[in-house]
Amino acid sequence: MDITILGIESSCDDTSAAIIKNGVLLSNVIASQEVHVKYGGVVPELASRAHQQNIIPVVDAALKDAELTIDNVDAIAFTRGPGLLGSLLVGVSFTKGLSIAKNIPMVEVNHLQGHILSHFIDLPDKEVEHPAFPFLCLLVSGGHTQIVLVKDYLDMEIIGSTIDDAAGEAFDKCAKVMGLPYPGGPVIDKLAREGDAKRFKFAKPSVDNFNYSFSGLKTSFLYFLRDNMANDDQFIEKNKADLCASLQQTIIDILLKKLIKATKEYKIDNIAIAGGVSANSGLRGAITSEGLKRGWKTFIPEFKFTTDNAAMIAITGYRKYLNNDFSSLDVTPIAKMGL
Ligand code: KG4
Ligand code: ZN
Repeated sequence: MDITILGIESSCDDTSAAIIKNGVLLSNVIASQEVHVKYGGVVPELASRAHQQNIIPVVDAALKDAELTIDNVDAIAFTRGPGLLGSLLVGVSFTKGLSIAKNIPMVEVNHLQGHILSHFIDLPDKEVEHPAFPFLCLLVSGGHTQIVLVKDYLDMEIIGSTIDDAAGEAFDKCAKVMGLPYPGGPVIDKLAREGDAKRFKFAKPSVDNFNYSFSGLKTSFLYFLRDNMANDDQFIEKNKADLCASLQQTIIDILLKKLIKATKEYKIDNIAIAGGVSANSGLRGAITSEGLKRGWKTFIPEFKFTTDNAAMIAITGYRKYLNNDFSSLDVTPIAKMGL
Protein backbone atom coordinates (compact mmCIF):
# COMPACT_ATOMS: atom_id res chain seq x y z
CA MET A 1 0.00 0.00 0.00
CA ASP A 2 1.24 3.48 -0.85
CA ILE A 3 1.71 5.91 1.99
CA THR A 4 1.67 9.60 1.12
CA ILE A 5 2.64 12.18 3.72
CA LEU A 6 2.20 15.94 3.52
CA GLY A 7 4.84 17.63 5.68
CA ILE A 8 4.48 21.16 7.04
CA GLU A 9 7.29 23.17 8.62
CA SER A 10 6.81 26.62 10.19
CA SER A 11 9.08 26.67 13.23
CA CYS A 12 11.13 29.77 12.40
CA ASP A 13 11.23 31.97 9.31
CA ASP A 14 10.71 29.47 6.48
CA THR A 15 7.25 28.29 5.49
CA SER A 16 7.61 24.93 3.82
CA ALA A 17 5.47 22.03 2.60
CA ALA A 18 6.60 18.74 1.09
CA ILE A 19 5.16 15.49 -0.17
CA ILE A 20 6.82 12.15 0.53
CA LYS A 21 5.41 8.96 -0.94
CA ASN A 22 6.76 5.71 0.49
CA GLY A 23 9.83 7.59 1.68
CA VAL A 24 10.51 9.18 -1.71
CA LEU A 25 10.41 12.96 -2.04
CA LEU A 26 7.93 14.19 -4.65
CA SER A 27 7.98 17.90 -3.81
CA ASN A 28 9.50 20.36 -1.36
CA VAL A 29 8.42 23.99 -1.52
CA ILE A 30 10.04 26.63 0.70
CA ALA A 31 8.96 30.26 1.05
CA SER A 32 11.74 32.16 2.79
CA GLN A 33 10.83 35.37 4.56
CA GLU A 34 12.84 38.35 3.32
CA VAL A 35 11.10 40.69 5.78
CA HIS A 36 13.64 39.93 8.55
CA VAL A 37 16.78 40.94 6.64
CA LYS A 38 16.42 44.63 7.37
CA TYR A 39 16.14 43.93 11.11
CA GLY A 40 19.28 41.78 11.20
CA GLY A 41 17.42 38.82 12.72
CA VAL A 42 14.07 37.06 12.85
CA VAL A 43 11.25 39.22 14.26
CA PRO A 44 8.82 36.65 15.72
CA GLU A 45 5.61 38.61 15.17
CA LEU A 46 6.49 39.29 11.52
CA ALA A 47 7.41 35.63 11.06
CA SER A 48 3.97 34.50 12.29
CA ARG A 49 2.22 36.91 9.93
CA ALA A 50 4.30 35.82 6.95
CA HIS A 51 3.55 32.15 7.74
CA GLN A 52 -0.17 33.01 7.72
CA GLN A 53 0.18 34.51 4.26
CA ASN A 54 2.40 31.77 2.88
CA ILE A 55 1.00 28.56 4.24
CA ILE A 56 -1.93 27.97 1.87
CA PRO A 57 -0.04 28.81 -1.35
CA VAL A 58 2.96 26.75 -0.19
CA VAL A 59 0.88 23.65 0.59
CA ASP A 60 -0.99 24.11 -2.67
CA ALA A 61 2.26 24.32 -4.62
CA ALA A 62 3.67 21.21 -2.90
CA LEU A 63 0.59 19.19 -3.91
CA LYS A 64 0.71 20.53 -7.47
CA ASP A 65 4.45 19.82 -7.83
CA ALA A 66 3.80 16.26 -6.69
CA GLU A 67 0.86 16.01 -9.13
CA LEU A 68 -1.44 15.03 -6.29
CA THR A 69 -4.48 16.45 -4.51
CA ILE A 70 -5.19 16.59 -0.79
CA ASP A 71 -7.37 13.49 -1.20
CA ASN A 72 -4.23 11.44 -1.93
CA VAL A 73 -2.68 12.38 1.42
CA ASP A 74 -2.69 9.69 4.16
CA ALA A 75 -1.38 11.87 6.98
CA ILE A 76 -0.25 15.43 7.64
CA ALA A 77 3.05 15.71 9.49
CA PHE A 78 3.69 19.06 11.16
CA THR A 79 6.42 20.57 13.32
CA ARG A 80 5.27 20.70 16.94
CA GLY A 81 8.50 22.26 18.23
CA PRO A 82 11.03 23.47 19.12
CA GLY A 83 10.75 26.92 17.56
CA LEU A 84 8.99 30.26 17.81
CA LEU A 85 5.61 29.75 19.41
CA GLY A 86 3.66 32.06 17.09
CA SER A 87 5.27 30.51 14.02
CA LEU A 88 4.61 26.96 15.22
CA LEU A 89 1.02 27.90 16.02
CA VAL A 90 0.33 28.76 12.39
CA GLY A 91 1.49 25.31 11.21
CA VAL A 92 -0.28 23.46 14.03
CA SER A 93 -3.57 25.34 13.57
CA PHE A 94 -3.49 24.97 9.79
CA THR A 95 -2.83 21.24 10.16
CA LYS A 96 -5.74 20.84 12.57
CA GLY A 97 -8.10 22.67 10.22
CA LEU A 98 -7.07 20.59 7.23
CA SER A 99 -7.20 17.40 9.28
CA ILE A 100 -10.77 18.09 10.41
CA ALA A 101 -11.96 19.28 7.01
CA LYS A 102 -10.55 16.31 5.11
CA ASN A 103 -10.55 13.70 7.84
CA ILE A 104 -6.81 13.08 7.55
CA PRO A 105 -4.78 11.98 10.59
CA MET A 106 -2.07 14.25 12.01
CA VAL A 107 1.46 13.31 13.02
CA GLU A 108 3.48 15.67 15.20
CA VAL A 109 7.18 15.93 14.44
CA ASN A 110 10.08 17.16 16.54
CA HIS A 111 12.01 19.61 14.36
CA LEU A 112 15.37 18.31 15.62
CA GLN A 113 14.51 14.70 14.78
CA GLY A 114 13.47 16.06 11.39
CA HIS A 115 16.92 17.55 10.75
CA ILE A 116 18.55 14.23 11.63
CA LEU A 117 16.14 12.09 9.60
CA SER A 118 16.75 14.27 6.54
CA HIS A 119 19.45 11.64 5.88
CA PHE A 120 16.68 9.13 5.09
CA ILE A 121 14.88 11.10 2.39
CA ASP A 122 14.90 9.06 -0.82
CA LEU A 123 14.97 10.85 -4.15
CA PRO A 124 13.14 9.71 -7.31
CA ASP A 125 16.12 10.20 -9.62
CA LYS A 126 19.13 9.34 -7.48
CA GLU A 127 20.30 6.57 -5.16
CA VAL A 128 20.70 7.88 -1.60
CA GLU A 129 22.84 6.04 0.92
CA HIS A 130 21.42 6.14 4.44
CA PRO A 131 23.47 5.91 7.62
CA ALA A 132 23.33 2.58 9.43
CA PHE A 133 22.34 2.56 13.12
CA PRO A 134 23.79 3.46 15.47
CA PHE A 135 25.36 6.65 14.20
CA LEU A 136 26.45 9.94 15.70
CA CYS A 137 24.93 13.08 14.30
CA LEU A 138 26.38 16.55 14.78
CA LEU A 139 23.25 18.68 14.71
CA VAL A 140 24.18 22.29 14.12
CA SER A 141 21.59 24.95 13.46
CA GLY A 142 20.67 28.50 14.39
CA GLY A 143 19.06 27.38 17.63
CA HIS A 144 20.81 24.09 18.48
CA THR A 145 24.24 22.51 18.67
CA GLN A 146 24.22 18.92 19.78
CA ILE A 147 25.89 15.58 19.36
CA VAL A 148 23.13 13.01 19.05
CA LEU A 149 23.46 9.25 19.38
CA VAL A 150 20.93 7.92 16.86
CA LYS A 151 19.99 4.34 17.78
CA ASP A 152 17.01 4.03 15.45
CA TYR A 153 14.74 6.26 13.36
CA LEU A 154 12.86 7.52 16.39
CA ASP A 155 15.21 6.52 19.18
CA MET A 156 17.79 9.25 19.78
CA GLU A 157 19.79 10.51 22.72
CA ILE A 158 21.54 13.86 23.08
CA ILE A 159 25.00 13.14 24.44
CA GLY A 160 26.34 16.70 24.25
CA SER A 161 24.86 20.11 23.79
CA THR A 162 25.78 23.78 23.83
CA ILE A 163 25.55 25.39 27.22
CA ASP A 164 24.93 28.84 25.70
CA ASP A 165 24.86 29.96 22.05
CA ALA A 166 24.37 27.65 19.08
CA ALA A 167 27.00 27.42 16.33
CA GLY A 168 24.66 29.13 13.84
CA GLU A 169 24.10 31.89 16.37
CA ALA A 170 27.88 32.38 16.61
CA PHE A 171 28.03 32.79 12.83
CA ASP A 172 25.04 35.14 12.79
CA LYS A 173 26.09 37.31 15.73
CA CYS A 174 29.71 37.66 14.63
CA ALA A 175 28.50 38.52 11.12
CA LYS A 176 26.28 41.20 12.59
CA VAL A 177 29.15 42.91 14.41
CA MET A 178 31.08 42.94 11.13
CA GLY A 179 28.12 44.68 9.51
CA LEU A 180 27.22 41.69 7.32
CA PRO A 181 23.58 40.90 6.47
CA TYR A 182 21.39 38.31 8.21
CA PRO A 183 21.67 35.34 8.22
CA GLY A 184 25.41 35.63 8.59
CA GLY A 185 26.35 31.95 8.20
CA PRO A 186 26.13 31.75 4.40
CA VAL A 187 27.78 35.18 4.01
CA ILE A 188 30.74 34.23 6.20
CA ASP A 189 31.00 30.92 4.34
CA LYS A 190 31.32 32.76 1.02
CA LEU A 191 33.78 35.41 2.23
CA ALA A 192 35.88 32.79 4.05
CA ARG A 193 36.75 31.09 0.76
CA GLU A 194 38.96 34.07 -0.14
CA GLY A 195 40.56 34.40 3.28
CA ASP A 196 43.47 33.06 5.35
CA ALA A 197 42.02 30.87 8.11
CA LYS A 198 45.30 30.87 10.07
CA ARG A 199 45.70 34.63 10.26
CA PHE A 200 43.71 35.38 13.44
CA LYS A 201 43.27 33.31 16.61
CA PHE A 202 40.14 33.44 18.74
CA ALA A 203 39.22 31.93 22.09
CA LYS A 204 38.34 28.25 22.14
CA PRO A 205 36.27 27.22 25.14
CA SER A 206 36.92 24.40 27.54
CA VAL A 207 33.67 22.78 28.67
CA ASP A 208 32.93 19.37 30.10
CA ASN A 209 32.18 16.11 28.33
CA PHE A 210 30.66 16.47 24.87
CA ASN A 211 29.21 19.89 25.51
CA TYR A 212 29.85 23.07 23.58
CA SER A 213 30.04 26.77 24.31
CA PHE A 214 30.13 29.60 21.78
CA SER A 215 29.44 32.71 23.80
CA GLY A 216 33.12 33.18 24.76
CA LEU A 217 34.14 33.06 21.12
CA LYS A 218 31.55 35.69 20.30
CA THR A 219 32.82 37.97 23.08
CA SER A 220 36.48 37.51 22.16
CA PHE A 221 35.66 38.23 18.52
CA LEU A 222 33.80 41.39 19.51
CA TYR A 223 36.69 42.68 21.71
CA PHE A 224 39.22 41.82 19.03
CA LEU A 225 37.32 43.90 16.49
CA ARG A 226 36.79 46.76 18.93
CA ASP A 227 40.51 46.94 19.82
CA ASN A 228 41.61 46.86 16.21
CA MET A 229 38.98 49.32 15.05
CA ALA A 230 40.25 51.77 17.69
CA ASN A 231 43.56 51.92 15.78
CA ASP A 232 42.18 51.60 12.28
CA ASP A 233 38.53 52.23 11.54
CA GLN A 234 38.91 50.38 8.23
CA PHE A 235 40.15 47.22 9.99
CA ILE A 236 37.03 45.13 9.35
CA GLU A 237 36.70 46.30 5.77
CA LYS A 238 40.35 45.57 4.97
CA ASN A 239 40.45 42.16 6.66
CA LYS A 240 36.95 40.83 6.07
CA ALA A 241 37.91 37.65 4.26
CA ASP A 242 40.64 36.71 6.76
CA LEU A 243 38.33 37.50 9.68
CA CYS A 244 35.59 35.28 8.21
CA ALA A 245 37.99 32.46 7.37
CA SER A 246 39.63 32.51 10.83
CA LEU A 247 36.30 32.71 12.64
CA GLN A 248 34.79 29.90 10.58
CA GLN A 249 37.84 27.71 11.17
CA THR A 250 37.61 28.32 14.92
CA ILE A 251 33.95 27.24 14.95
CA ILE A 252 34.78 24.14 12.90
CA ASP A 253 37.68 23.24 15.22
CA ILE A 254 35.43 23.58 18.27
CA LEU A 255 32.72 21.41 16.66
CA LEU A 256 35.12 18.71 15.50
CA LYS A 257 37.03 18.37 18.76
CA LYS A 258 34.01 17.13 20.71
CA LEU A 259 32.69 15.08 17.82
CA ILE A 260 36.01 13.23 17.55
CA LYS A 261 35.98 12.67 21.31
CA ALA A 262 32.46 11.20 21.05
CA THR A 263 33.37 8.85 18.19
CA LYS A 264 36.20 7.44 20.32
CA GLU A 265 34.20 7.11 23.52
CA TYR A 266 31.17 5.53 21.83
CA LYS A 267 33.30 3.59 19.33
CA ILE A 268 31.05 4.65 16.49
CA ASP A 269 32.39 5.54 13.07
CA ASN A 270 29.15 6.27 11.23
CA ILE A 271 29.08 10.05 11.38
CA ALA A 272 26.47 12.43 10.04
CA ILE A 273 25.96 16.19 10.15
CA ALA A 274 22.64 17.99 9.93
CA GLY A 275 21.02 21.40 10.42
CA GLY A 276 21.55 24.81 8.82
CA VAL A 277 25.26 25.04 9.68
CA SER A 278 25.89 21.70 7.92
CA ALA A 279 25.49 23.78 4.73
CA ASN A 280 28.85 25.35 5.57
CA SER A 281 31.41 24.39 2.94
CA GLY A 282 34.29 24.51 5.42
CA LEU A 283 32.51 22.17 7.83
CA ARG A 284 31.47 19.80 5.03
CA GLY A 285 35.07 19.66 3.84
CA ALA A 286 36.47 19.22 7.35
CA ILE A 287 34.10 16.34 8.19
CA THR A 288 34.94 14.65 4.91
CA SER A 289 38.71 14.90 5.34
CA GLU A 290 38.58 14.01 9.03
CA GLY A 291 36.47 10.99 8.06
CA LEU A 292 39.01 9.86 5.48
CA LYS A 293 41.80 10.23 8.03
CA ARG A 294 39.97 8.37 10.79
CA GLY A 295 38.14 5.72 8.78
CA TRP A 296 34.67 7.10 9.41
CA LYS A 297 31.77 6.61 7.07
CA THR A 298 30.52 10.18 6.73
CA PHE A 299 27.08 11.38 5.71
CA ILE A 300 26.79 14.94 4.47
CA PRO A 301 23.21 15.99 3.66
CA GLU A 302 22.14 17.34 0.30
CA PHE A 303 22.51 21.10 0.48
CA LYS A 304 18.75 21.68 0.17
CA PHE A 305 18.03 19.53 3.23
CA THR A 306 20.42 21.35 5.57
CA THR A 307 18.38 24.46 6.37
CA ASP A 308 14.74 24.29 7.45
CA ASN A 309 12.49 22.39 5.05
CA ALA A 310 9.33 20.30 5.17
CA ALA A 311 10.85 17.27 3.44
CA MET A 312 12.58 16.38 6.72
CA ILE A 313 9.26 16.79 8.57
CA ALA A 314 7.48 14.56 6.04
CA ILE A 315 10.11 11.78 6.25
CA THR A 316 9.90 11.82 10.04
CA GLY A 317 6.10 11.77 9.76
CA TYR A 318 6.39 8.77 7.46
CA ARG A 319 8.42 6.86 10.06
CA LYS A 320 5.92 7.75 12.79
CA TYR A 321 3.02 6.78 10.53
CA LEU A 322 4.58 3.32 10.14
CA ASN A 323 4.59 3.11 13.95
CA ASN A 324 0.92 4.23 14.13
CA ASP A 325 2.07 7.24 16.12
CA PHE A 326 -0.64 9.86 15.53
CA SER A 327 -1.55 13.09 17.30
CA SER A 328 -4.88 14.07 18.76
CA LEU A 329 -6.71 17.28 17.98
CA ASP A 330 -5.80 18.88 21.30
CA VAL A 331 -2.06 18.89 20.47
CA THR A 332 -0.34 22.23 21.15
CA PRO A 333 3.01 23.58 19.92
CA ILE A 334 6.01 23.52 22.25
CA ALA A 335 8.65 26.26 21.95
CA LYS A 336 11.41 24.46 23.85
CA MET A 337 11.83 20.71 23.69
CA GLY A 338 14.58 18.11 23.57
CA LEU A 339 14.58 15.04 21.38
O1 KG4 B 1 18.48 24.69 10.57
P1 KG4 B 1 18.27 26.13 10.31
O2 KG4 B 1 17.75 26.55 8.96
O3 KG4 B 1 17.29 26.76 11.36
C1 KG4 B 1 17.26 26.39 12.70
O4 KG4 B 1 16.64 25.35 13.01
O5 KG4 B 1 17.91 27.14 13.48
O6 KG4 B 1 19.66 26.85 10.60
C2 KG4 B 1 19.83 28.22 10.40
C3 KG4 B 1 21.27 28.57 10.75
C4 KG4 B 1 21.55 30.06 10.73
O7 KG4 B 1 22.24 30.40 11.92
C5 KG4 B 1 22.44 30.24 9.51
O8 KG4 B 1 23.36 31.30 9.61
C6 KG4 B 1 23.15 28.92 9.46
O9 KG4 B 1 22.16 27.96 9.79
N1 KG4 B 1 23.71 28.63 8.14
C7 KG4 B 1 25.03 28.56 7.89
C8 KG4 B 1 25.17 28.34 6.50
N2 KG4 B 1 23.92 28.26 5.96
C9 KG4 B 1 23.04 28.44 6.98
N3 KG4 B 1 26.08 28.67 8.71
C10 KG4 B 1 27.31 28.57 8.16
N4 KG4 B 1 27.53 28.37 6.85
C11 KG4 B 1 26.49 28.25 5.99
N5 KG4 B 1 26.72 28.03 4.68
ZN1 ZN C 1 16.11 23.92 11.89
